[in-house]
Amino acid sequence: MRVLGIETSCDETAASVVALDGASAPDILSNVVLSQIAEHAAFGGVVPEIAARAHVEALDGIVAAALANSGVKLDEIDAIAATAGPGLVGGLIVGLMTAKAIAAAADKPLLAINHLEGHALTARLTDGLAFPYLLLLVSGGHTQIVRVAGVGDYQRWATTIDDALGEAFDKTAKMLGLPYPGGPNVEKAAAKGDPTRFAFPRPMKGAAQPDFSFSGLKTAVRQAAQAIAPLTDQDVADICASFQTAVADALADRVSRALGRFRTEFPDQHEPALVVAGGVAANRVIKATLERLCTTAGFRFVAPPLKLCTDNAAMIAWAGIERLRAGLDEENAFDFVPRSRWPLDTVSVPVVGSGRRGAKA
Ligand code: KG4
Ligand code: ZN
Repeated sequence: MRVLGIETSCDETAASVVALDGASAPDILSNVVLSQIAEHAAFGGVVPEIAARAHVEALDGIVAAALANSGVKLDEIDAIAATAGPGLVGGLIVGLMTAKAIAAAADKPLLAINHLEGHALTARLTDGLAFPYLLLLVSGGHTQIVRVAGVGDYQRWATTIDDALGEAFDKTAKMLGLPYPGGPNVEKAAAKGDPTRFAFPRPMKGAAQPDFSFSGLKTAVRQAAQAIAPLTDQDVADICASFQTAVADALADRVSRALGRFRTEFPDQHEPALVVAGGVAANRVIKATLERLCTTAGFRFVAPPLKLCTDNAAMIAWAGIERLRAGLDEENAFDFVPRSRWPLDTVSVPVVGSGRRGAKA
């Protein structure tokens, strides 16, 4: 089975060919990702209209490159899978319409994929992980803990009631005058800072539900910065280090609740696993904190390679393969309308105050 995947839900234009041959491990034959960071940097965040136009300009070439790199011709492809939501609707329209056109012209099946399902199933592509497992998705648009029990079988156990974690990093960076994207720059500054100088809050720590909140922390950072302005480089480094420590600490508390629930719900699971995905998983302090937590709790810690953790099209092609294999492909994907909001778990009740505030998914 060979599937061409297309991803355009935010600011990466991506295409990939993934193959699955019988019982052997899946093969990523190509994985082309064009980041639009340069186009958006001047604005300090993703500008939806600029993103959509950049996707229009780049996508044909990216798809051609993905096919060329894979060595597979279009007529040897079994299906086309494209992200159909959630995300910025302009980009989703570009990707899904392109996929519809290719699939119609080449007479191939089309799969409309939920971007979050791509993130949720990546650990099966990279590590061959068996169901069930727990997923922590920490990106610019999402902060969720999801119980993944099968293809299409997702239960959201926790979400953020305000900002996404990546968004909190990006806003903190902006307040401190650090360039976009904020996460990597906050981490870099934090390396030279004193994590004990500011006692920032650990939002939701101790709450029974493993939900997240980051807007109070963001406010505390702003107040601390205003109180000592103008900031020296050392002040910025100390604020970043204290912020990052507060985040890691709050995350550890929230995730440990979810690990406990997983143990209770799956008592027979010998080696339960926690998978991390999303751009924030690049953060070394956060990663090390989660790794320690897993060791203590007897969980396997799975962190797929970063280029498959952040937005890419291999995860979309792979979700397509998983759906085809499970017989879950939509009959009328050609009629599918892109969805800017599309929860992975349609059963769990939305948390009051939660929203997808960030530009990224
Ligand atoms: O998964 P991603 O590339 O895009 C989506 O949001 O889908 O995640 C981007 C987010 C941004 O908010 C960025 O600031 C954050 O991940 N990020 C980091 C780090 N690298 C990227 N946050 C903290 N530490 C990092 N090293
Ligand atoms: Zn994403």
